Amino acid sequence: MDRKEFLAQLGIGSAAAMAITCLQACTKSSMGGGSSVDFTIDITSSQFSALKNSGGSVVYQGIIIAKTTSGSYLAVSSRCPHEGVTVNFSSSNNQFICNAHNSVFSSTGSRISGPANTGLTQYNTSLSGNSLRVYA
Ligand code: FES
Repeated sequence: MDRKEFLAQLGIGSAAAMAITCLQACTKSSMGGGSSVDFTIDITSSQFSALKNSGGSVVYQGIIIAKTTSGSYLAVSSRCPHEGVTVNFSSSNNQFICNAHNSVFSSTGSRISGPANTGLTQYNTSLSGNSLRVYA
């Protein structure tokens, strides 16, 4: 291999490496910061004591986690898409309500009514003992 061939290969290699780096960076930024949701909380912790009771809810890491009256757990993004106010859980109908301008969302985060033009992001929940996993 002469110098010209070597430089040509090096150039292709650098371009490929840069393309991969760019793709990774672009993907992360377009996915909303690159962090996918996946955390586990201890529902016996005082921080999450509201989740011991049916109808209780807590906001953690931008997600509102609620325990329904039937004992299942719901998790949706807590920031109202209208103007960013934190939504509340209404256990009587398993809906999420934004009291700022009365947007209403279903238990899955779908928009039902109000000025918000999109729904809330729904997350999965999985309970194992006292550990509640919330994940995308
Ligand atoms: S901020 Fe939630 S309805 Fe306006």
